[in-house]
Amino acid sequence: MPGHIEVCKFPEKGLRDKVFDLLNELSGREPELGDQRSLGPMMSAPLPVSLKAHMVFLRRNLNDPHWFRVSADLLHETVAMLGDLLGNPEAQGVSTYGGSESNLTALYALREAGYESVIVPRSAHTSVFKACRVLRMRIFVADVDEELRVVPESVRAIVRETKDNSAILLTAGNTETGVIDDVRAVHDLVPDTPILVDAAFGGLIAPFIRGTRKLPDFDFRIDSVVALSLDGHKTGLTPIPSGILLFGMEDLYNNVVFESEYMGSEKQLSLLWTRTAASVASLWASIKYLGREGFEKIYGECMRIADYAYERLLSEGFSPTRPELPLICIRHHELSGIELLWRLRKIGWYVYSCPSLGGVKITIMPHVTKEIIDAFIDDLVRIAKDIRSSTTLNN
Ligand SMILES: Cc1ncc(COP(=O)(O)O)c(C=O)c1O
Repeated sequence: MPGHIEVCKFPEKGLRDKVFDLLNELSGREPELGDQRSLGPMMSAPLPVSLKAHMVFLRRNLNDPHWFRVSADLLHETVAMLGDLLGNPEAQGVSTYGGSESNLTALYALREAGYESVIVPRSAHTSVFKACRVLRMRIFVADVDEELRVVPESVRAIVRETKDNSAILLTAGNTETGVIDDVRAVHDLVPDTPILVDAAFGGLIAPFIRGTRKLPDFDFRIDSVVALSLDGHKTGLTPIPSGILLFGMEDLYNNVVFESEYMGSEKQLSLLWTRTAASVASLWASIKYLGREGFEKIYGECMRIADYAYERLLSEGFSPTRPELPLICIRHHELSGIELLWRLRKIGWYVYSCPSLGGVKITIMPHVTKEIIDAFIDDLVRIAKDIRSSTTLNN
C-alpha cells in the first residue's frame, strides 16, 4: 500500500472489532471524492441517496437476474431512462465499471460484428488505445484541431483510403479540454460507417445544458451512432463504479449477451461475470432523485462557474480553453504546465494536466464553488509571478 513500508504477513489471529477502527483511522489520512481542493478529477461527492442505494445493492449480484430480479429491473429501467434522454428510448444496454470497460465492451461488440479496425481522434481517451491493444484491433488515428476536437475531413480521408472495414469512435467530452466531437459532421461525411460515442464525461451533462448554449449533437438522434457510453461516477453523482453502455442496434447488443446455462438462467450480459448491482442502483437513485430539473440546476451552476473562471483566467494573463463542458485547460505562454501542476499540488490543489496543450486542467464539478475558484486562481497568479520573477533573477 503506498505510504506503508512494513512487510505485511498474513495475520495469524484476527483483529475482530478493531478492524473497522483501524480502517477508519487509515481512511482519515486520505481525501474523499469531492474534496474542496480536488479540481482535476471528473468526479464529485456522491449524492447521499446514491451512496445509500449503492450500499444496499452492493449485496446483490446483477449477473443473477433470476435470484435478483429487482436488480435486473433496475438495470432495464436505468437503460430505458438514459436511452430516452439520449434519443433512443428503445436502446438496450449493459452495466459496466466505467468508461474504460464501456470502451472495451463496445469495441468488442463491433469487432464481433466484423469491424476489425477503428478510426479514432488523436485525442481519444487512453482506454480506447488500450482496448484496441487487448482486442488486437487496428487503429487509424484522425487529426484534431487546436481544441482537440476531431477534424471530420480527416476521418473521411481515412475511410476513403483504407480498405479495412472500420468503425469510428468519437468523444463527447474530451478528457483534456472537455470539447465534444462534431459527431453529426462526421456522420454527414461518412454516413455508412458506424460510430461509437465515448460520452463518459459529457453524456450526463450536455443534455442538461443544451437549453442555454449551442453544443454539437452526439447521441442516437444521429443515424450512424450505434453505441454510446456514459459514467455515473463522473457526472451522475454516484460512487465508483458506475458505467452504462447503451446500444442502438440489437445485433451489437447481442454480441455481449453470453450463455450461462449452469446458473439456470440462459443469458448473461457483458464481459464480466459476477457484478455488483450497486453500480446500477446508485445511478438509478441519482436520476430518480434529481430528475432533469435537478441535473439542469447542478450543471447550469457548474457552467456558470466555469464561464466565470474562464473570464478571470483571461484577465489574469492566462490562455484558458473556452469551456464547452465544465472543464478548462489553463495555459500560460511563458510557463510550463507541468511546473504549474507541481507547484499547485505542493500547496494542496489537486489538479491534472492537459499534456497535449501543455497546461493544467481543472474540472468544475458540483463541489466546486466560485469561492474555491477564486482562491485557486489567486494562488495560481501568485505561483506564476514567483516562477517569472525567479526566472528573471536567474537570467
Ligand atoms: C472520455 C473518457 N473516456 C473514458 C474514460 C475512462 O473512464 P474510467 O476511468 O471510468 O474507466 C475517461 C476517464 O477520465 C474519459 O475521460
